[in-house]
Amino acid sequence: MDDLIIIRDLIKYFPLQKGFLDRLFAKEKGFVRAVDNVSFTIKKGEVLGLVGESGCGKTTTGRLILRLLEPTSGDILYNEKSVFSFTKKEMEKMREKMQIVFQDPYASLSPRMSIGKAIEHPLVIHNSHDKAERKEICLRIMEKVGLEPAEFLYKKYPHQLSGGQRQRVVIARALVTNPEFVVADEPIAMADVSVRALILELMAQLKEEFDLTYLYITHDLATCKYICDRVAIMYLGKIVEMGSLEEVFKNPIHPYTATLLEAVPVPDPKYRRTEPIPKGEIPSPINPPPGCSFHPRCHYAVSTCSQEEPDLKELRQEHWVACPIRS
Ligand SMILES: Nc1ncnc2c1ncn2[C@@H]1O[C@H](COP(=O)(O)OP(=O)(O)O)[C@@H](O)[C@H]1O
Ligand SMILES: [Mg+2]
Repeated sequence: MDDLIIIRDLIKYFPLQKGFLDRLFAKEKGFVRAVDNVSFTIKKGEVLGLVGESGCGKTTTGRLILRLLEPTSGDILYNEKSVFSFTKKEMEKMREKMQIVFQDPYASLSPRMSIGKAIEHPLVIHNSHDKAERKEICLRIMEKVGLEPAEFLYKKYPHQLSGGQRQRVVIARALVTNPEFVVADEPIAMADVSVRALILELMAQLKEEFDLTYLYITHDLATCKYICDRVAIMYLGKIVEMGSLEEVFKNPIHPYTATLLEAVPVPDPKYRRTEPIPKGEIPSPINPPPGCSFHPRCHYAVSTCSQEEPDLKELRQEHWVACPIRS
């Protein structure tokens, strides 16, 4: 498979917004190290899961890939060409070909825009097709995502729909420009438990039908098994483990990944945890711990873990891990 997207040494530091007193006494300017030197590729037609606790930099990574944010440094290649060298025309094309599905469908839909108008909106922005054609495309995509009867729902407003339907609207809107790559940022986090599996199933089905490539962002590693081909585990702005879904689920190597897998519920009352829960809370990305940033929470940490920052190493075939003691 060809690489659709290649991320190289991507960094995004946000300057710290400080209060007056903090500014007065601060010795140096602080930064939030949201994405801290991340490299990975996404192959054409695959679903890569980007997984980690809230605040670890998943959304920032997704927004950087779509150029909704500019990185501090690093490069992003789309179809083997750096997106930072794109002409205006190439950039416009890229905006059509790359879309995002946000976590909160209520927040990402205008309450005053009917469902039909919301789904058609990207076509209006990209100035493609006339009014009648736009409606036709919209109704067709509504049927594809299960918003039926489409003609009836076309005139409805977001508050008149169920949560699951609203999420389908957001998916339809992302697909209306016929993209090839979609960042799905926690697409099921706000949906009822009962419809989560249905939405993932729909996404998997749409992927086949429209030949899509996904970056699937989630804090819940368990949901990856429904849709992902590969997973990348993020912790405090860095990727700590990456490999095929099967490989990482069967042979997790990083202690952090193992604890995320332990959080997956097992319907057996006799089951006992084998991995201890990480100690304490996730540290701040403003002053991440030195060395391996997971070491203060890691039950296996030794004194050297706080000294050297581990690189991602290929420990098994296509299975990459950054852990000072296991790699
Ligand atoms: N625009 C911003 N300005 C300053 N800090 C930000 C901004 N966006 C995100 N951050 C910070 O960057 C870190 C990563 O955030 P985010 O990418 O949203 O994580 P996730 O999606 O994994 O929850 C967090 O500490 C967050 O507070
Ligand atoms: Mg997020």
